[in-house]
Amino acid sequence: MKPIDPRLLRYARATRFFLAASVALGLAGAGLVIAQAMLIAEIVVGAFQRGDGVTALTPPLGLLALVAVGRAVVSWLTELAAHRAGAAVKSELRLRLLEWAVRLGPSWLDSQRTGELTTLATRGIDALDDYFARYLPQLGLAVVVPVAVLARIVTADWISALIIVVTLPLIPLFMMLIGWATQSRMDRQWRLLSRLSGHFLDVVAGLPTLKVFGRAKAQAASIRAITGDYRRATLKTLRLAFLSSLALELLSTVSVALVAVDIGMRLVHGEMDLFTGLVVLVLAPEAYLPLRQVGAQYHAAAEGLTAADEVFAVLEREPSGVGGSPAPDARGAGLALDGLVVRHPGRTEPSLARTSCEIRPGETVAVVGSSGAGKSTLLNAVLGFAAPHEGRVLIGDRDLASLDPESWRRQIAWVPQRPYLFAGTIAENVRPARPDADDEAVRAALRDADALRFVSALPDGIETRLGEMGAGLSAGQRQRIALARAFLADRPVLLLDEP
Ligand SMILES: Nc1ncnc2c1ncn2[C@@H]1O[C@H](COP(=O)(O)OP(=O)(O)OP(=O)(O)O)[C@@H](O)[C@H]1O
Ligand SMILES: [Mg+2]
Repeated sequence: MKPIDPRLLRYARATRFFLAASVALGLAGAGLVIAQAMLIAEIVVGAFQRGDGVTALTPPLGLLALVAVGRAVVSWLTELAAHRAGAAVKSELRLRLLEWAVRLGPSWLDSQRTGELTTLATRGIDALDDYFARYLPQLGLAVVVPVAVLARIVTADWISALIIVVTLPLIPLFMMLIGWATQSRMDRQWRLLSRLSGHFLDVVAGLPTLKVFGRAKAQAASIRAITGDYRRATLKTLRLAFLSSLALELLSTVSVALVAVDIGMRLVHGEMDLFTGLVVLVLAPEAYLPLRQVGAQYHAAAEGLTAADEVFAVLEREPSGVGGSPAPDARGAGLALDGLVVRHPGRTEPSLARTSCEIRPGETVAVVGSSGAGKSTLLNAVLGFAAPHEGRVLIGDRDLASLDPESWRRQIAWVPQRPYLFAGTIAENVRPARPDADDEAVRAALRDADALRFVSALPDGIETRLGEMGAGLSAGQRQRIALARAFLADRPVLLLDEP
């Protein structure tokens, strides 16, 4: 895994601004660190070597206090920028993920587990918080501070600078080695978590069924098993994280000790003045600190990065049939299936066997077939959700595959076999195709679907709130609301799946 995923820059623009801000704040922080070291050296030399009194030491002490305030301000600004950027990036990624899921369409959603996708969009993207609030600012510091500190040390004492230059790269080298070792574990942990939530959602949705058939208890055991796996994976990762921070700590402590011992020898032999020695001594650990911490933050950030990886994997899937020319007006053009065969991946039998037919404008056609014959699949092909394996869907004389699917779908009103009602009022559920339709039009559509009678009997009429998936209505009533939705849309092509 790279320190910064370039796709994050591409898909979340707020990242760029934030990176620039981190580097600028890192520079300010580095300047303050150097000023602080010089002031401390100055004060110590003044108090112990020159024997200065309180009055002579007041200005540097005051400056030191100012520097401390400055460092606090810099870290506050960093925190502020990090949370702003984090929030912006998360909402941008969520929006894109949703948009893309819609673009990829039902055929792709069918192949996904809803629970996993939900975890990704919520908890997964939330894990980016650590990445922005802690890892990226630290990365900015890790790039800027060692360079600035080294530049200061080299002007004071080149031997110490040389020791630091030789030992400093060992830290990122170690981090890379550790990163390799932990990567596969992080991936595994993420997979376990998404499996857990997918399974959990499944069990909750199916609880009534499981209860009736006496299997609810057994599901608890399987959830326990998956949770156990997740716990073990987390502990293993943590163990590695602790070990690796121990190794990095040790490495930088030994390096600083090397610098210190050398300076001590030269101070004893009078080859160096106290001020220079102190400045270098105070600064040396500061060169290692940000690099070491970036390693620690990396573990906190890794979960977010893994989730971001999954988001990018979704975003990089090409939706089938984007672009193309606008579809002809369905009022004038007929619809034809020309030797259409549809297959689902991984199935040997075609889901829709070779079908040809012609439907002229104004015609009503019923498609009849036994369960699993491919009626819904046929409608999916006409909607452009399922791509033909062989043959074509023709609109007028144009192949649907060459047309812009959006412009075609704008002409279709569709009632799926299991219509989805959103949590909202009945009127809102009838209106999606024509959000500006007035209540009279909504009532007329409900009347056409023979739904007005039971809707009017509800306490709030068409403003009655429904639960998720239309909770509060019977299955047949839901079907009628969906019919009313299609009627209100008033589009030239009407597709009704088992209405
Ligand atoms: N997502 C899918 N993946 C794999 N195979 C599928 C998928 N959806 C449907 N099939 C298969 O395609 C065939 C046709 O399914 P389809 O839903 O079109 O049938 P249908 O005629 O609408 O049936 P019903 O009357 O029960 O609604 C079935 O044999 C089914 O097993
Ligand atoms: Mg069907």
